[in-house]
Amino acid sequence: MNFKLIEDQLKNIKADCEIILVLNQDMTHKWVQDSVLLEQTDFHAKSDEVVYLASLQRVYATLESLDHDAIRLAVANAYKCIKNNKFETLKLGIYGDTQSVSALVEGFVLGDYAFDKYKTQKATHNIHTVLIASETYDNQKIDIQEANTAIARAQIIANATNEAKEIVNTAPYEMTPVKLAEYAKNLADSTEGIECFIGDETFLEKEQMGAFLAVARASSEKPRLIHLSYKPANAKKRFVFIGKGLTYDSGGLSLKPSEHMVSMKSDKSGASAALHIIKAAALLKLPFEVHAVIGAAENMIGGNAYKPDDVLIARNGKSIEVRNTDAEGRLVLADCLDYAQDLNPDAMFDLATLTGACVVALGEYTSVVMGHSKDLKESFLCAAEQSGELAATLPFNNYLKKLLKSNVADLSNISSSRYGGAITAGLFLDHFIKDEFKDKWLHLDIAGPAYIEKDWGYNQCGASGAGVRMCTYWMIKAAKEDA
Ligand code: BES
Ligand code: ZN
Ligand code: ZN
Repeated sequence: MNFKLIEDQLKNIKADCEIILVLNQDMTHKWVQDSVLLEQTDFHAKSDEVVYLASLQRVYATLESLDHDAIRLAVANAYKCIKNNKFETLKLGIYGDTQSVSALVEGFVLGDYAFDKYKTQKATHNIHTVLIASETYDNQKIDIQEANTAIARAQIIANATNEAKEIVNTAPYEMTPVKLAEYAKNLADSTEGIECFIGDETFLEKEQMGAFLAVARASSEKPRLIHLSYKPANAKKRFVFIGKGLTYDSGGLSLKPSEHMVSMKSDKSGASAALHIIKAAALLKLPFEVHAVIGAAENMIGGNAYKPDDVLIARNGKSIEVRNTDAEGRLVLADCLDYAQDLNPDAMFDLATLTGACVVALGEYTSVVMGHSKDLKESFLCAAEQSGELAATLPFNNYLKKLLKSNVADLSNISSSRYGGAITAGLFLDHFIKDEFKDKWLHLDIAGPAYIEKDWGYNQCGASGAGVRMCTYWMIKAAKEDA
């Protein structure tokens, strides 16, 4: 889909179809030309209402507010209503300042995604050009250059998000750890400035990643450590994104019940997010060194599977008693987090579909943010809100940390209590963060929004690319603050 900003009034632009978003039920606005017809169709711009006037080739959609996420939603709703028509071009105006243009473009691109890889009948993408008039809803003046930058930025972020969805949605037999590593290598080869290192089992052994290796052992699919780096000249800071890349999580010997196993191809969502965050950073030419470190493995059963009662030695030398093989993500991450700290990051974020408990706590749509630094959490939540991703913090505490004690090892891989599971998982990871990085680290549990088997807002059924937008927006914000 192409976007063209045109310095003219909306009415002077020619297109196959026009989109009009109606704010605050304001049916008398200059862009609402069809009050009588709209009245007849009972359209009053309430909640998610959308109406398509076929004879006039106009689609009207409710715009609940001028918040950027409301714009993304309204655009996606309008687009969904007409995308199967044979239109090639669309036109619409601008609903706010230049930043709102980003939201508008993101609404189209995110709304255009369809997972049809395994369908014989593919989704239609007839609309190839969206014409954006420089005229705004409230007659404010737009800086054309800034608006064009906003369009380009939005396309990069939304395309990266859609690509992240595609990897997560891909079936586990096709997206094994080795295939994910190949994908990462291709991503690096085709994106200027990204370099790729792939570590195989011998590398993991050399690195003494005993926790990661144990999780991967029973699968016939071999594990890989994927490390992508983007190092622009004169980088101001170094950020590392660590992704949980369980291409399948059967639970291992602590096997998941069948109804909980379905959709566990999504356990690679953190990895997919990290890969596409670095891609977005490179395409946006952000002034930071960015790394993506991914632990890719399959958690399976077999004669050589790691077992409850095993004791593993992690890369940092700590011993871990395995009490549940389904708490495998934290084991893989423990070793990856230790590896990541060797890069001496100024900030580090792990992204993981880590616990069902965080979905119980906050519902499906919200990611959980944990960490020690109040400032970093605040700045991250602010970026998440701008990006349209829902995120909220859960607090660490020392009582919960004590629940990870083990009688036989330095710590247990699960808590002794059934309560507070999202936090105890985060606190487990905290054991692998060195003192000097405590305030530079955030743990993002994306288990809720990463994969939902129904459409929600402008997200399609299945993967949502959770993490890509909020982390990229955070880096954009950091770049502005550093400028
Ligand atoms: N991958 C799962 C977490 C998950 C659950 C992701 C639901 C997405 C949706 C993780 O590896 C897991 O199984 N966690 C266990 C931890 C428990 C054994 C302490 C869980 O949440 O039940
Ligand atoms: Zn698990
Ligand atoms: Zn898992």
